[in-house]
Amino acid sequence: RWSVDKIVDNLQSYPQIIQASDQLIKNETVAFPTETVYGLGGNAQSDEAVSKIFAAKGRPADNPLIIHIAERSQLEAFVESVPEKAEKLISAFWPGPLTMIFNKKVGALSDLATAGLSTVAIRMPDHPVALALLKKTGLPIAAPSANSSGKPSPTTANHVWEDLHGRIAGIVDGGPTGVGVESTVIDCTEDIPTILRPGGITKEQLMEAIGEVRLDPALQDSEQAPKSPGMKYKHYAPDAPLYLVDGERAFMQKLVSEKRKEGLSVGVLTTEENKNYYDANVVITCGSRADLRTVASGLYDALRQLNHENVDIIYGEIFSTEGVGAAVMNRLIKAAGHRIITN
Ligand code: TXA
Ligand code: MG
Repeated sequence: RWSVDKIVDNLQSYPQIIQASDQLIKNETVAFPTETVYGLGGNAQSDEAVSKIFAAKGRPADNPLIIHIAERSQLEAFVESVPEKAEKLISAFWPGPLTMIFNKKVGALSDLATAGLSTVAIRMPDHPVALALLKKTGLPIAAPSANSSGKPSPTTANHVWEDLHGRIAGIVDGGPTGVGVESTVIDCTEDIPTILRPGGITKEQLMEAIGEVRLDPALQDSEQAPKSPGMKYKHYAPDAPLYLVDGERAFMQKLVSEKRKEGLSVGVLTTEENKNYYDANVVITCGSRADLRTVASGLYDALRQLNHENVDIIYGEIFSTEGVGAAVMNRLIKAAGHRIITN
């Protein structure tokens, strides 16, 4: 198992990291693994590098990037202040899948990276390759998920290659990522912090660390404008329409059979527990219901597999919104464009 110190002390044995660091310093873009998903990195202090990130992904310019750092001591250079609750969250969850929004220090980072906002999103990833790379560059690295805008986030180097080859300077392959869904984004600029995007750190964990936390109302009501610009965009949608099914598996099988009788090729997005139950053209498993962390970890690969199967329509199971289930259901509902069939 890699450890960050081992890598940093023996960098000559990790030429991919040295090369990636050189490219980042030259304001090129490089994809690298984090514990959540692969990120597409660029020097957050360079308009040139940040422009290349937006161009490679086809990302709208009004959607700000997360700035990645390797050490707590880097933070003060980029933010106006670190509120007490934010300090507690840092102690509890960094390095880890928690992105915090602060008031930004003017002039410290490319304004393109923060999409001209007065706030900035910062996180310290918990992955030895990411941390070694960040340490080697010594730079704040802007890194959105390394997918084409709108596609599921990449959880393997191969996913990155599928979307971005020929458009970026390189990919550091660190194997599959662990958490599988992106970091939780929490706005720490107000007295009671607000979750803007559910992710790898759960609401339950946050409340244990700092007490009351709010949820951006837009997370429960699709009519409201989200406070996180990226949350308003269509995301993760497979090529075929996905319908989530809130009901027994027999009900879902009935829907599948009806569409097959109409001559459609039907895909099913299911779990280990139910994968042998369905009779469909394609059955894809994303993980085990017994541990929702496995579902988070396998979800994006499952959505990508469904894209490769050329089905006409997809039915998918739903999950509890407890723990990391909140992030899983947030992504699934977006992938389904809010189409849910209730028995
Ligand atoms: O796990 C992750 O967070 C991954 C890895 C690579 O670190 N990164 C990631 O970045 O998911 P991205 O760009 O795909 O998502 C960043 C989200 C977007 O929804 C964006 O709108 C939001 O963070 N964001 C960034 N800066 C913000 C700000 N100042 N205020 C509110 N939301 C912000
Ligand atoms: Mg993304």
